[in-house]
Amino acid sequence: MFSRIAGTGRYLPEKVLTNFDLEKMVDTTDEWIRTRTGIERRHIAAEGETTADLAERAARAAIDAAGIEPTDIDFIVVGTTTPDVVFPNVGCLIQERLGIRGCTAFGLEAACSGFMYALGIADKFVRSGESKRALVVGAETLSRIVSWSDRDTCVLFGDGAGAVVLEPADEAGILSTHLHADGHYGDLLFFPSGVSKGFNDLKSGKDFVQMKGNEVFKVAVKTLGRIVDETLEKNSLDKSAIDWLIPHQANIRIIQATARKLDMPMERVVMTVQDHGNTSAASVPMALDVAVRDGRIRRGDMLLLEAFGGGFTWGSALIRY
Ligand code: UT7
Repeated sequence: MFSRIAGTGRYLPEKVLTNFDLEKMVDTTDEWIRTRTGIERRHIAAEGETTADLAERAARAAIDAAGIEPTDIDFIVVGTTTPDVVFPNVGCLIQERLGIRGCTAFGLEAACSGFMYALGIADKFVRSGESKRALVVGAETLSRIVSWSDRDTCVLFGDGAGAVVLEPADEAGILSTHLHADGHYGDLLFFPSGVSKGFNDLKSGKDFVQMKGNEVFKVAVKTLGRIVDETLEKNSLDKSAIDWLIPHQANIRIIQATARKLDMPMERVVMTVQDHGNTSAASVPMALDVAVRDGRIRRGDMLLLEAFGGGFTWGSALIRY
């Protein structure tokens, strides 16, 4: 038994923050942001709009696309680094809003790889027959944990949510998922405080995402190159078999490096970084949904999804759509 993607969805908050808006907030330029990252604009959650709000909208869109009712869902996992509250987890929050009772529902924190981890786990539940319809979400309100006076990071991130519904199938479907981590690199990209360690005063400007961008960049390029090889080898496939690359949308230069490694022209790479910025766990499922809904990705296409983020964590999935 395999799992296959039955439907996809996404939701982006209404407010758009452009590079030109950021020029008025920190010492930066549209030109610097565009040439170094590929980002032109990003969406930012409204005051009071939470990760669960975004996740619910994306989930409903994916459930509609799958042609099922919310109550058909029997497994919910939400990858997020920015949950509404410590608990109930965002999975439970959207379970309640969707009117579902009793099924497995949990949140999972693997930074930008959160959706890849969630997909890998959900795939195993569907394959084993334990779940018939799994809702897999990546959702973030990263805008809440970046310092809006730190130009190194605030220009990079955005908010949003993406979702897929998985269902059982006789043929793949998801051919393989690959999940990795190396805590050795924890100090290159991190949020310094939390419930157990204690929060600093948020107004002190100490509680925000901190990143040694250039060092993260180098490890990301190398690591994503390796996971692409691992994914192809595991399936005895040549890189020419991939129809679409759906990468984590952190930086256009990282995406181009992975595309070069696969000998893929950029027309076969789904790019949303210009419009979404880096939305962490939401980036891959939103990019997937964009290309499914605009008709580029068709049933039968071979997809390679990959992500890399804080931890470090990284993951990939090879999918016959
Ligand atoms: O999603 C999780 C994984 N995250 C990533 O994959 C992010 C990986 N890293 C990156 O995408 C890139 O490293 C960045 C976009 C963050 C930075 O690009 P870079 O080419 O690595 O630049 P840099 O950090 O080496 O900085 C170059 C210069 C510095 O000035 P000096 O020291 O050369 O005078 C920075 O101070 O650019 C300066 N700078 C800026 N200038 C204008 C840094 N941020 C800005 C800014 N506007 N927003």
